[in-house]
Amino acid sequence: MFNSRITGLGKYVPENVVTNNDLKQWMDTSDEWIQERTGIKERRWIDPKTSDDTTSIMGAKAAKIAIERAGLTKDDIDFIVFATLSPDMYFPGGGVRVQELLDMDTIGAIDIRNQCSGFIYGLSVADQFIKTGMYKHVLVIGSENHSGGLERSTRGRHVTVIFGDGAGAAVLSREEDHTKGILSTHLHSEGKHAKELALEGPSTGRWVDTIMNENNPDDTSYYPYMNGQFVFKHAVVRFSEAIVEGLAANELQKEDIDMLIPHQANLRIAQFIQKKFRLPDANVYNNIMRYGNTTAASIPIALTEAWEEGKIKEGDTVVLAAFGSGFTWGSAIIKW
Ligand code: UT7
Repeated sequence: MFNSRITGLGKYVPENVVTNNDLKQWMDTSDEWIQERTGIKERRWIDPKTSDDTTSIMGAKAAKIAIERAGLTKDDIDFIVFATLSPDMYFPGGGVRVQELLDMDTIGAIDIRNQCSGFIYGLSVADQFIKTGMYKHVLVIGSENHSGGLERSTRGRHVTVIFGDGAGAAVLSREEDHTKGILSTHLHSEGKHAKELALEGPSTGRWVDTIMNENNPDDTSYYPYMNGQFVFKHAVVRFSEAIVEGLAANELQKEDIDMLIPHQANLRIAQFIQKKFRLPDANVYNNIMRYGNTTAASIPIALTEAWEEGKIKEGDTVVLAAFGSGFTWGSAIIKW
């Protein structure tokens, strides 16, 4: 048995910055409301007039950086794990597009459909492949193009203002020292709440309605739906549980956390968790102010930035935690 260690990180966000005030061209909202409730100041939204970015293309751009920083080439990668809720196509997923875009050999590629906890699920899948010795280097990508599918109107404002586009990637490599790298991952789901945060169409249950949408302007099933306060209440509980579970599994205390990277769902959720675990500001990384909630991309973007800013050092205990649609949630405990 081996451990897996993150050897390279990369991120890519579209150039186009959309401030809270910019959103007023589509909906009745305010910078004050958005900042007060979510902490978000701006987000990146692909501008299709000036960019050909897609979920897969952004993922490939982030992956390229991660591979270079790992000191590897695309030919060293054995497997691709791609997490997204906004694939370029209904099928196939984004992993196979990355294989093509990076001109990789015919290695395996799998897509993960676990929304906000997609990157942690992806990390866990990659970790198992490396632990068993099957693969040596696995690419894990989280990427989202939310802007293409959000409802830009006052009706959709409570969801639309939150989400942003972007991608992050990590290379996981074989590590022989069992005290280093990913120590454990913890994954959970509770499908009875699936409809509290979901996009129902297009799907096999909804696609006829969706195609017929022009005749049914009140059908919102092709826009994301979120029961915000319900999700918020579950998020604060599940985030905490996942962190406690991860620490306990490794006989660690909350004081041992050098860096907590929570999924960037809402700054208020992150602040609640920080307070609960009594963590100083320097031990929690947030960037939702600049990018909004980028779902599967949020943890790898934040992890990349924290690492780029020198906030994660060798030997640090890094905790990743996420909660979102499904409901799904989880944590990863890493010794850097
Ligand atoms: O990443 C996946 C997990 N997601 C989350 O964890 C998100 C969890 N939920 C949340 O972060 C919060 O519920 C939101 C930020 C999404 C919404 O905040 P809220 O405090 O739950 O607001 P609300 O939807 O209950 O709306 C409160 C009021 C309503 O007005 P009335 O009915 O009280 O007059 C809304 O119409 O705020 C209004 N409102 C807005 N006003 C201006 C909703 N959205 C907006 C907006 N701008 N964008």
